[in-house]
Amino acid sequence: MQAVMNSCNEPVLLEARGITKHFGAVTALEEVSLQLLAGEVLGVVGDNGAGKSTLMKVLSGLIRPSGGELLFQGQPIYFHSPRDAHRAGIEMVYQDLALAGNMPIFENIYLGREPGRNVAGLTVVDRAKARRLATEHLDRLHIQVTSVDQNVEDLSGGQRQAVAIARATAFDARVVIMDEPTAALAIKEVGKVLDLIKRLKDHGVGVILISHRMDDVFYVCDRVMAIFRGRNFAESPLKDTTRNEVIGWIMGTKGHSAALAHDKVH
Ligand SMILES: Nc1ncnc2c1ncn2[C@@H]1O[C@H](COP(=O)(O)OP(=O)(O)O)[C@@H](O)[C@H]1O
Ligand SMILES: [Mg+2]
Repeated sequence: MQAVMNSCNEPVLLEARGITKHFGAVTALEEVSLQLLAGEVLGVVGDNGAGKSTLMKVLSGLIRPSGGELLFQGQPIYFHSPRDAHRAGIEMVYQDLALAGNMPIFENIYLGREPGRNVAGLTVVDRAKARRLATEHLDRLHIQVTSVDQNVEDLSGGQRQAVAIARATAFDARVVIMDEPTAALAIKEVGKVLDLIKRLKDHGVGVILISHRMDDVFYVCDRVMAIFRGRNFAESPLKDTTRNEVIGWIMGTKGHSAALAHDKVH
């Protein structure tokens, strides 16, 4: 397929154009647009209620937008369910909730979509193969666990998050969307999850990271965009902005005038 380029001649993987979402009388998103490149980590920031999660649910097929369109490599796509998004290679990392604590790691990675073996026309789950593939996949992502037979409930928060990311990327994901993946983690585990995100990027995966932690955004993202009250507010390559500027965007302020006005108050 012909690659679709942005204005800087970079290949665009996923694009949202003018996405609007109403929940009854509430307008959660209004004409929001976003572009994600292959191998790019895009940070999405915004205050509580800004519409970040709603946008990600639209991108991952969990909810249907009221208006606007999605394009994957330049082709319009329509999702009726997360399964459709999964088929397109778009995965959302859900936190612990999506993992089954009382089941081993390898089963969690392949839960509900185990590699099968065809026996007399029936698909039989091939546990040995699932175990081997899971081990290889975790190795590829440098995720360390004692054994893929370990139950998820015996893992630390960071390891569980890593397993959730492994699950999301087990089937050639092109786009991985993460909504606050480090929010519930101990500080020493945060770095490991962020390094894992960098590794996805090295594999050419496009990552969208929602985070309110500036340390995370500035460690791992290539670009950051802010949503304010359901609309695009500002965006920038990370190298051309600062933490203070991004924090200002979250609060709905831009540029020096806002900082000066703030200084005058104090
Ligand atoms: N299922 C829903 N039904 C009604 N309102 C919703 C629903 N989901 C989100 N909203 C509203 O949409 C707005 C954006 O929410 P959300 O996308 O969760 O924001 P964020 O993730 O940035 O905190 C909020 O006003 C929220 O209350
Ligand atoms: Mg949210």
